[in-house]
Amino acid sequence: MNGSTKKVAIVTGSAQGIGYAIAKKLASQGIAVAIADIHAEKTYAAAESLCKEGWAAKGFSCDVSKSESLETLMEQIMDAFGQIDILINNAGILHSTPIPDVTEAEWDQVMAVNLKSVFFACQKALPYLKKSLNPRIINISSLAGRMGGYETGLAYTASKGGIISLTYGLARQLAPFGITVNAVCPGTTETDIIKCWDEAQVASLKARIPLNRLGKPENVASAVAYLASDEAEFITGLLMDVNGGMYFG
Ligand SMILES: NC(=O)c1ccc[n+]([C@@H]2O[C@H](COP(=O)([O-])OP(=O)(O)OC[C@H]3O[C@@H](n4cnc5c(N)ncnc54)[C@H](O)[C@@H]3O)[C@@H](O)[C@H]2O)c1
Repeated sequence: MNGSTKKVAIVTGSAQGIGYAIAKKLASQGIAVAIADIHAEKTYAAAESLCKEGWAAKGFSCDVSKSESLETLMEQIMDAFGQIDILINNAGILHSTPIPDVTEAEWDQVMAVNLKSVFFACQKALPYLKKSLNPRIINISSLAGRMGGYETGLAYTASKGGIISLTYGLARQLAPFGITVNAVCPGTTETDIIKCWDEAQVASLKARIPLNRLGKPENVASAVAYLASDEAEFITGLLMDVNGGMYFG
């Protein structure tokens, strides 16, 4: 990639679901994509399926809840692609445990995967993003982080609210380096993550969506692609809701 004007994007948690849709969208636009996920085999298969389309992609096995794993990830991506322009912090886990049943271990795990990871991915990518001509960070928060959630466990809700605060702070502190930092907040979206809810719970969520359907991963990917594009160069510190009208304000 050295000497070319091509961009390189990292999408965490992109072996499937929203992350995969983001990776696919960016790759289709000529951006080289690093697929980073904890499930090694699925990660390599996802990258291969993008390569089969003739796009540039490579899979990297990584646990975003561990800062060393993120540091190694950035080094591996630099070895493979020579630059990092766009970091998309998408990896996440959901729980729906009621308040009395949440254990300390569950709380810590949700926070580590969903929130700690965002800070340390930014920290580890920063030296490379500073060298990019058009550096971008896009964090995937959630409707739950915006308004408390309906069916989500509170560690999830707090982690997604934390991503919003981090997005504001990062946007301010990284602006001097020309790095824009924004968040996309999906509402209920058709992926495996919502399998922790039963049919009645999903139906009650759907009933709250004025546009009368669940979101598709591609709807979130389109928002992310816009924020990653040159057209969005002056937007930073924005929360972009992609929720069919489920919440706004
Ligand atoms: N689907 C929804 O309704 C919805 C709504 C709001 C926000 N989100 C957010 O969107 C993001 C993507 O979720 P999704 O719906 O595609 O779910 P998903 O379960 O399909 O995908 C999540 C991905 O993250 C990966 N992952 C989990 N732990 C990891 C770790 N420690 N290290 C690296 N990768 C890890 C998983 O392997 C998986 O590929 C999450 O942050 C989620 O909170 C989803």
